[in-house]
Amino acid sequence: MPKVLAVTSEKGGVGKSTLAVHLAGALAERGLNVALIDEDPRVGSSARWAVRGVKLGGVGLPFAVYEADDVKPKKLAALDVVVIDTEGRPKRKELRQLADRADLILVPSGTSALELEATLELMDFLQGDADAARKSRVVLTRVPPVGRAGEEAREDLREAGATVCNTLVRAYAAYVRAAELGTLARDVRDPRADTAWEDMLALSREVL
Ligand SMILES: Nc1ncnc2c1ncn2[C@@H]1O[C@H](COP(=O)(O)OP(=O)(O)OP(=O)(O)O)[C@@H](O)[C@H]1O
Ligand SMILES: [Mg+2]
Repeated sequence: MPKVLAVTSEKGGVGKSTLAVHLAGALAERGLNVALIDEDPRVGSSARWAVRGVKLGGVGLPFAVYEADDVKPKKLAALDVVVIDTEGRPKRKELRQLADRADLILVPSGTSALELEATLELMDFLQGDADAARKSRVVLTRVPPVGRAGEEAREDLREAGATVCNTLVRAYAAYVRAAELGTLARDVRDPRADTAWEDMLALSREVL
């Protein structure tokens, strides 16, 4: 059975879909057989990301994206990894179910005080269950490339008892462009595209 990596967060708009799409892309580049399942039906979701890529006729995404209703267990059985993109603000019950299904729960978070507070709340809930606690990690994302906000947030979260990935996913316009074009930051024309991609590759090595 494939490894299941789920991406969820307490707040919306923190970068879940961006993280899910790029993590799947980085794992695919490393030769793993990966697919993304979109469990968020709204605009801006990763399924629509993939559709934009096809419509615009560019390079698109190097892995399959399925909508939740459209997943056939047979399609998944041959995979190494399944990445799940979720809707923000999950209900506690949904979160418990996600923890049961996933091998790893990644919680993207920005570095602002408000986001860190919401992230800690979610991590506290997950840490109430030993299995979920073991599986959950914060990923700091949209980190200002200049200054130490990312390092400081990482330290603060760790001091508060959260498990935090070492890799800081920095804020780059290449990600926004990638979403618009329905592709990966790696494949957009942007002076920082390679730097952005390096962050995602590093994160992918850290999680799998
Ligand atoms: N590392 C990053 N650098 C720059 N912009 C980013 C980064 N990550 C996400 N963004 C931008 O932030 C916005 C929100 O990102 P995204 O859609 O991935 O969040 P989300 O958590 O999936 O949102 P939702 O809760 O609506 O599903 C988008 O405009 C996206 O392009
Ligand atoms: Mg999303």
